[in-house]
Amino acid sequence: MEPEAYKEALVQYMRRRAWSEWYFGTVAQAREITLLPEDQVNLKLRLARQIQDEMRHYDVFAQQLRRYNAEPKISEFVLPPILIQMQKVQVEAETASEIAAANQFAGEIVLSSMTDLETSIFKRLFDKELMDAIYDIEKDEPPHIANGRDLILLSCETYEQRHRLAVAQEKYLSYMMQLHVTEIVKLGCRRVKPLPVFE
Ligand SMILES: [Fe+2]
Ligand SMILES: [Fe+2]
Repeated sequence: MEPEAYKEALVQYMRRRAWSEWYFGTVAQAREITLLPEDQVNLKLRLARQIQDEMRHYDVFAQQLRRYNAEPKISEFVLPPILIQMQKVQVEAETASEIAAANQFAGEIVLSSMTDLETSIFKRLFDKELMDAIYDIEKDEPPHIANGRDLILLSCETYEQRHRLAVAQEKYLSYMMQLHVTEIVKLGCRRVKPLPVFE
């Protein structure tokens, strides 16, 4: 790949990551806090701590962008259509549990597996400094996923509740997979084996 084209795709990718840290890491959690009943003080505090972590992640991407003389420019960031669909799934979620099913218990689980050295494509696509920054961010994910698990456990007694949560999770994840594939292709990857089939 031409270095200029790679650089352009990488800047675009990091701007998308910075936007996602900001939006999926603060707006969803703030809504979860407001939707939780008053007595869920501990969970609300854990979500507030998560917001703090996610803003740090945003700063990490902003710093990486500066190495390429670029900025996240959140207000000017034009969302790709798939990202709008991902945002829509979370906006349409009506309860804290449903938001969690499409956020902490969906996307964050995928993110935490991205640095798995056996399977991650990232280590071939990114330099050491960016890879180290991503490792650093992902150390924060386990408590965020635990927030998602505990939010889901609040309302999953009935079949109807579980079905709603599963639908939100699946919708979000299928858009997220499309986005990730598009992004790594833009960064120079091509598929050499058929897509795995899950039954
Ligand atoms: Fe994050
Ligand atoms: Fe997170």
